[in-house]
Amino acid sequence: MIVLGVESSCDETGVGLVSDGVLLGDALASSMDAHARFGGVVPEVAARAHLESMVPVLHEALDKASLGLGDVDAVAVTAGPGLSTAVQVGLASAKALAFALGKPLYGVHHLAGHAAVDVLEHGPLPPRCVALVVSGGHTSLLLLGDLGKDPIVHLGDTIDDAAGEAFDKVARVLGLGYPGGPVVDRVARDGDPHAIAFPRALSRPSDPAYGFSFSGVKTAVARWVEARVDAGGEVPVADVAAGFQEAVADVLTRKALAACREHRVDTLLLVGGVAANSRVRALAEERCAAAGVELRVPPVRLCTDNGAMIAAVGDLLVRAGAPASGLDLGADPSAPLTGALLAGPWT
Ligand code: KG4
Ligand code: ZN
Repeated sequence: MIVLGVESSCDETGVGLVSDGVLLGDALASSMDAHARFGGVVPEVAARAHLESMVPVLHEALDKASLGLGDVDAVAVTAGPGLSTAVQVGLASAKALAFALGKPLYGVHHLAGHAAVDVLEHGPLPPRCVALVVSGGHTSLLLLGDLGKDPIVHLGDTIDDAAGEAFDKVARVLGLGYPGGPVVDRVARDGDPHAIAFPRALSRPSDPAYGFSFSGVKTAVARWVEARVDAGGEVPVADVAAGFQEAVADVLTRKALAACREHRVDTLLLVGGVAANSRVRALAEERCAAAGVELRVPPVRLCTDNGAMIAAVGDLLVRAGAPASGLDLGADPSAPLTGALLAGPWT
């Protein structure tokens, strides 16, 4: 079975082809540059870019996989969460393909795609694992069983900003541009992570063990920078970036390992755009090694949004015998993550 996956929930148009846990080919177009001058993704601009890129990206992915549309056995698509107008473009494209080819359509949860993509690099997931999903819109600690059929258990989520959002906002405060994550990561390499101590929220014993909050650390960075500027001093951008990144990496990895310990799970899956962060990866490696937990992190290219991850989760659903979604499936921009399949309809 060859599964074609379509992703369009934010600013990346992605198409991937997966069969039996193997990536056959994928292609990606990004409208990131078009959003840079606005300091964040503009939904209408993203949707227009998806419209323009979808067909070329589809053909590029098929070419890379040396396949034709006639080889596709099933179509998977992000039905949510994401920017409504952006999701709609991928969903309409996937429906058109499924209808024209006479093949089943699977609406999937974007974050399940982030988790499933690791299968393409490191093989099948173990029967149980803890997943730390850290993206621009979400930060969640999950207990996963069989992604293709089991419900997903939330151990904790962020109560305010997502980790990636905090990276983007801190980058703006430091004048580093958009998207913030990669540039903060780069700049922080020249900084001292211990020069400035930024707060680690929800870290007291009385706090929810697996809850996250990144709005405080973001504000602390803004206040620190403001105070330095008011005092007429120069802002040590690299030290601020490194201190902020250290605070985020520390909280994320500490809570993830506590979850592994409490739930007696010996595999941690670290996924989503922020899993591309070099310090988050390094600290997770260090702490997992010390705790005897196996760490699985997809290669950086597959951490940020792409089509392969949606094909990967579609492939798991197909192999688990999940029921296809109907062609009346609607977009669900704020879909809760309860399982990989989004059966719809909502709109
Ligand atoms: O998963 P993703 O591509 O899209 C969403 O589903 O949100 O994640 C995007 C987020 C952005 O906030 C971006 O700044 C962040 O991931 N990101 C990073 C890095 N690369 C991307 N954050 C920290 N360090 C990075 N190297
Ligand atoms: Zn994502």
